[in-house]
Amino acid sequence: MTERLRVAVLAGGPSAEHEVSLQSAQAVLDALPRDLYEPIPVIIDRQGRWPLDLRRDVADVVFPVLHGPYGEDGVIQGHLETLRLPYVGCGVLASAVAMDKVAMKRTFLAEDLPVSPYVWFTRHDWDTATDHWGLVKSLDWPMYVKPANMGSSIGISRVTSMEELSTGVELAFGYDRVVVVEQGVNGRELICGVLGDHDTPQASVPGELLVNGDWLDYESKYLSQSEIATIPAVLPEQVAEEVRMLSLRAYQAIGGYGLARVDFLWEEGTGRLYVLEINTMPGFTARSVYARAWESSGLAYPDLLRRLIDLAMARSGS
Ligand SMILES: Nc1ncnc2c1ncn2[C@@H]1O[C@H](COP(=O)(O)OP(=O)(O)O)[C@@H](O)[C@H]1O
Ligand SMILES: [Mg+2]
Repeated sequence: MTERLRVAVLAGGPSAEHEVSLQSAQAVLDALPRDLYEPIPVIIDRQGRWPLDLRRDVADVVFPVLHGPYGEDGVIQGHLETLRLPYVGCGVLASAVAMDKVAMKRTFLAEDLPVSPYVWFTRHDWDTATDHWGLVKSLDWPMYVKPANMGSSIGISRVTSMEELSTGVELAFGYDRVVVVEQGVNGRELICGVLGDHDTPQASVPGELLVNGDWLDYESKYLSQSEIATIPAVLPEQVAEEVRMLSLRAYQAIGGYGLARVDFLWEEGTGRLYVLEINTMPGFTARSVYARAWESSGLAYPDLLRRLIDLAMARSGS
């Protein structure tokens, strides 16, 4: 038998998505096929302290199962590049572009991908504006206020008045110095998994997220007991095909590698599809929509893990 690959599974970390990451990482640790891999759990604490030092030849490949700033935004990816360790998922630039909602939208717009109307401003712009309405007047209500860098709906508000907008903006500034305000799209939420290298990535069957209430806040994403998605989504074939094509284009627009999940809003009445965002390390348990979308496309969770590790090794030339 050949040597098993030592896979360091990074979990936790200082982002607000620490808990979500622990769940994702546990699922990866449980499912890594033991005949091929020796899993090494590496739980990074909320202060960013590591339990072991990856410089000491302890791992052959790293699986950063980290969500949000620090783990999903290119910081860890850059660190692993300096250590010359192969790692799963997107590289530095793709991770950084995907994590920053302003950079992401600019990238999508430059590649003619459909994005809902939005504005962005800094803490300084907001504090010095004589008229806050002037900053958002190009948009219609409801609006979504978001910190530029975050995930899991943390720091996001749906607002329907200037008063709510002000409260939402203050909340969002608690997470980032840049805030994005988007025009609300009244649509169904679709997702699509992308897997593969830069040049020939593949798209999974689309899924649909079930929204209870107005939108998917943190609680409905992680704490609700109800079924969260329909996979595959029940859609006209041509919409499903467009979702898959747009997902591949969004992935290639950021220079994706390994994996990403692309999220959409589909306005059924007008038939318009908007790319909401791309996540380079989406929720990653076996019950997460990314894994389920691949399972439903014929790739079981342990095989998905194997595919991702193969891609990591192929990129580094190992
Ligand atoms: N422009 C929008 N129109 C309608 N709903 C939105 C819009 N932006 C965000 N939402 C709702 O908020 C949720 C979280 O927004 P998203 O941009 O995906 O942030 P995160 O990166 O935290 O997941 C979405 O899943 C959706 O339910
Ligand atoms: Mg989202």
